[in-house]
Amino acid sequence: MSIPDESSPWHYPVLLKETLEYLAIRPDGVYVDMTAGLGGHLGAIAERLMNGMAIGCDRDAESLEIAKRNTAAYGERIRFHHGAFSTLDQALAANGVAEVDGMVADLGVSRYQLASAERGFSLMVDGPLDMRMNRGETETAADLVNFLPEKALADLIYQLGDERRSRRIARAIVRGRPIHTTGRLAQVIEQAVPRTSKIHPATQAFMALRLQVNQELVELEQLLRNGPERLKSGGRFVVLTFMSTEDRIVKQAFQSLARAHRATILTKHVVRPSETEVKENPASRSAKLRCLERN
Ligand SMILES: C[S@@+](CC[C@H](N)C(=O)[O-])C[C@H]1O[C@@H](n2cnc3c(N)ncnc32)[C@H](O)[C@@H]1O
Repeated sequence: MSIPDESSPWHYPVLLKETLEYLAIRPDGVYVDMTAGLGGHLGAIAERLMNGMAIGCDRDAESLEIAKRNTAAYGERIRFHHGAFSTLDQALAANGVAEVDGMVADLGVSRYQLASAERGFSLMVDGPLDMRMNRGETETAADLVNFLPEKALADLIYQLGDERRSRRIARAIVRGRPIHTTGRLAQVIEQAVPRTSKIHPATQAFMALRLQVNQELVELEQLLRNGPERLKSGGRFVVLTFMSTEDRIVKQAFQSLARAHRATILTKHVVRPSETEVKENPASRSAKLRCLERN
């Protein structure tokens, strides 16, 4: 089992400077970080507060504990909430807050989650086929891989993973059952669809399974409906995405709010990390930032 050191310098909050600029933090404001993770963005927000409050949410209890440790210096300025995007209202109510000055969501999984073999997110480290962000939930990636009918598995990999070779992959998975580890799944897929580039042929299938296990797109859509409603007038909402499917959903939701004159899009063009950031933190290379201001 490998658990990386969560406070080690490999943790770079993505597009941090840009996120803080777009949030335009007021020292007495109330801010929500929907994806506290290891506390990178959250700590930076708290650092800019005086009488204000930051609420750090995450559906992963282990990550939330790490965020608490990493941001301990900010004491009572930060409150924590264990829950998914769909529990935003509970997070606000528990802290006596009705509306907020800003909100950030840095989507996906953290490098800590990816590197923790026993969480089963990554094809690079061998571990049980799990992929649950919230370990209190019941369905794991192993359940999907071992019990979904072949066609449903192929459809899932095609639709959520954008993977053209989904039928071949699903057939190989069904033949290779039972599959209990990330290493074995990666091997079964690699045998069915040989490598054509530097990218591992199981990458898209792993992404599809993760999105399904955590219902990530459903959660995102709910956040995009509810989040802007909880912003004060002039309040800002920053979303960081790493996949084109997610970015498309964010872009369309923002456009529809702008058309209804409920909000103004502040990022006419999507914001990307600088060359320097990508060099320092290659994991940031696919990041896209969009920001909305409530009218
Ligand atoms: C990319 S990491 C965030 C890293 C964080 N910004 C930092 O600087 O440390 C994404 C985090 O969001 C959490 N997450 C993803 N989807 C979520 C959801 N629907 N509800 C709550 N937390 C979620 C994951 O568990 C993960 O810890």
